[in-house]
Amino acid sequence: MSDSVTGDGLTEDKLTMGIDPYERNWIRLSIVLLVVFFATVSISGFALGFQVNGSDAEVDPRTVLDTEPWSSPGLRKISDGEYEAYVVAKTWTFEPRELEVPVGSKVTIYVTSPDLQHGFKITDTNVNMQIVPGQVSKLSYTFDTVGEFPIICTEYCGQGHAAMAGTVNVVEEDSSNSTEESSS
Ligand code: CUA
Repeated sequence: MSDSVTGDGLTEDKLTMGIDPYERNWIRLSIVLLVVFFATVSISGFALGFQVNGSDAEVDPRTVLDTEPWSSPGLRKISDGEYEAYVVAKTWTFEPRELEVPVGSKVTIYVTSPDLQHGFKITDTNVNMQIVPGQVSKLSYTFDTVGEFPIICTEYCGQGHAAMAGTVNVVEEDSSNSTEESSS
C-alpha cells in the first residue's frame, strides 16, 4: 500500500478500509459507549455494591405457604451479626410486616409470593426485588444505620397495592453483645 495522495486529493489514511469518515465517527462513538456502559456496570457492581436479585429456588405457589420455612416466615439468626429473613409478599401485605435487626447486621432476605407479582423495596437501601409467584427472590444487605426503613410494594398488584407496606427497624445492638464500655 502506498501513502501517496490519490487523484481526488484524499490521502490513503482517509480511505482506510473504505470507511466513510462520518461512519467511522459513529463506530468510535459506539466503542466509547460500550466502554462507558462497561464502566458503569463494573462501578455499580463492585464499588457501590449493586446486586441483581437472583432466583434462589423454585417453589409451588399453591402449596408454598404450607411448607417450611414459608409456613412460619420471619427473621432467623444465623450467627452474631448475621440473619436471614423469610418474607411472604401477598395481596396485600407482607408477612411479617416488621423486621427488627440490630445495627450492623447482614441480612439475607428471601421473598416469594403465593398469588400475584409484587415488588419488595426497602426505602433508602439498594434492596429492590421483583417477586414472582413460584420463585424465591434473594438479596443480602448490611444495615449500617439505625432507623426505620419502610418496605413498599413496587409492582402494581390490584386495589390494595398502595397499602402494601412494611418496615425494617434497625435498632442499637443490645448491650449484652457489646464489648464497648459506655462512657456516659
Ligand atoms: Cu403488591 Cu403492589
